[in-house]
Amino acid sequence: MTTRAKTTISTLRERKRGQRKITMLTCYDYATARLMEEAQIDSLLVGDTYAEVCLGHATTLPASLEHLVTLADAVRRGAPSAYLVGDMPFLTYQVCPEEAIRNAGLYMARGGCDCVKVEVDRRLARTVEAMATAAIPVMAHLGLKPQSIQSLGGYKTQGKHAAQAQQIIEDARIMESAGAVALLLEAVPQDVAAIISRATELPVIGIASGPECDGQVLVFHDMVGYGGGHPPRSAKQYAHIGEQLIEAFRAYADEVRRGVFPTTEMSVRMSAAELEALQQSLRAAAPSGSRPP
Ligand code: KIV
Repeated sequence: MTTRAKTTISTLRERKRGQRKITMLTCYDYATARLMEEAQIDSLLVGDTYAEVCLGHATTLPASLEHLVTLADAVRRGAPSAYLVGDMPFLTYQVCPEEAIRNAGLYMARGGCDCVKVEVDRRLARTVEAMATAAIPVMAHLGLKPQSIQSLGGYKTQGKHAAQAQQIIEDARIMESAGAVALLLEAVPQDVAAIISRATELPVIGIASGPECDGQVLVFHDMVGYGGGHPPRSAKQYAHIGEQLIEAFRAYADEVRRGVFPTTEMSVRMSAAELEALQQSLRAAAPSGSRPP
């Protein structure tokens, strides 16, 4: 396995200054984390999209903190040098700053995260400030906020009109002043993403927000074609592992049905002496009159 220096927030800031793009993928398990570490992906996000892509829910709302912290801990073991971001699930930070700090602390202490991500706008600036004061690095997720899907009424680009775009740009400034260490922009027009990325010193990660962000994130299942459903237009597919897996499952089922798998070479045999001893003891134990084994 390739080893590399630990990626920290300073690494991400240097990337921005040096105009070298930051790579981020969602990750939910140890095995995949090992592969992403090998591929030197800079940052892994234990996203609440877990509820959708792994648990089959229609939204991210059912993701639980306990569950995601356990996943973060596994991902950390698989990718010791990645910048690990834990996604704070619905209602784990919105209620009050104290709860946000306590819940984020679980991600940092038990999940091994470098940072937590919260879906925010200016109304949660006090919470971000309180978290930053408690030494919790916060990535502020702006634009389309999937945890607000029921209020938004659908997964739509945010900030297509000047007034709303200006709000998002101002929210980004407010989050920087509140002490956020990075921004994530989801589904904002690329013009808006470019303005925000140029105006802030914070690393800006984009999803469905165009090429001018400082880095990009994709949902693992979408980018490798794993699982059903249609990935969003913005999610390029770099592999089609779902199709390869179906082929593998079919080949396995076919071989089991035809008795081709497993072969005797793959199985263990008893020595002739042990087999004879076994047969003798089975015969001795058999009730009289029954068929010998
Ligand atoms: O939960 C998640 O996977 C996310 C990405 C869509 C950025 O927030």
